[in-house]
Amino acid sequence: MLHIHNGFLNGKASGTATVPMLRLENVQKTYGRGANQVQALRGVSIDVMPGEIFGIIGLSGAGKSTLIRCINLLERPQAGRVYIDGVDVTDYKGAVLRSMRRQIGMVFQHFNLLTNRTALGNVTFPMEIAGLSRRERDQRALELLEFVGLRAKAHRYPSELSGGEKQRVGIARALASEPRLLLCDEPTSALDPETTASFLNLLKDINRRLGLTIVMVTHQMHVVRAVCGRVAVLDQGRVAELGTVAEVFAAPKTEAARRLVKEAAIGA
Ligand SMILES: Nc1ncnc2c1ncn2[C@@H]1O[C@H](COP(=O)(O)OP(=O)(O)OP(=O)(O)O)[C@@H](O)[C@H]1O
Ligand SMILES: [Mg+2]
Repeated sequence: MLHIHNGFLNGKASGTATVPMLRLENVQKTYGRGANQVQALRGVSIDVMPGEIFGIIGLSGAGKSTLIRCINLLERPQAGRVYIDGVDVTDYKGAVLRSMRRQIGMVFQHFNLLTNRTALGNVTFPMEIAGLSRRERDQRALELLEFVGLRAKAHRYPSELSGGEKQRVGIARALASEPRLLLCDEPTSALDPETTASFLNLLKDINRRLGLTIVMVTHQMHVVRAVCGRVAVLDQGRVAELGTVAEVFAAPKTEAARRLVKEAAIGA
């Protein structure tokens, strides 16, 4: 049986107030020095509650990917704190950092699959690193491939798979380490509309059936509308707006949000 931590039950079961699955507190990230300095994040604070699908939108260069990478500490913020399920992970290093990262799955725009491994081999990879036995790895990977509808293509190489299939392998791989949080950076940008729709249904299914919290960066407004409950508009490294998708789309308060919503209307 496929098992994923159900973060949504944490606070509820104990009867205490629900702890955010992710809390970003005044996160700042600057790249480079002197004349080359870029302030990618200028103090970003966001809470994502357990079980949410939270969208992050913004124009190119707004800091969306930087923000996602600060969550799993692929980038280290110069200031601010990152909490995962109430635990301050900002200063994690070494083995604790690696074990923390295992609880955070990541799905990328360009899939980032290992080309010399089959779909199965890609999904077993994180479990090899985690030291699971071959039998456990193969069994769980096949369950995950079944879950994403790709059991029949377990022994195909990435070059033999379509974009949508590759992204499904990416999801199965991300789920392999039983994450509590799934981060997606433009997961549908390289997919055609039909494949995008079926991928989004899979995401919703994962969210519903496994209770997995999802943070998704996208520049595609229809993607936000299809799956997200709340959304933050990032503008030049700041949260310009944050609210339910309905609120932000119906009455964008900032210029950045108005531009994005207008572009979506033109694109639709
Ligand atoms: N490794 C890096 N070194 C220097 N500057 C960087 C680096 N990564 C990002 N930046 C800069 O930081 C800013 C934010 O970049 P980021 O990639 O987070 O934007 P984004 O919102 O994801 O954009 P896009 O929609 O184009 O993917 C940009 O000005 C970018 O040029
Ligand atoms: Mg980006």
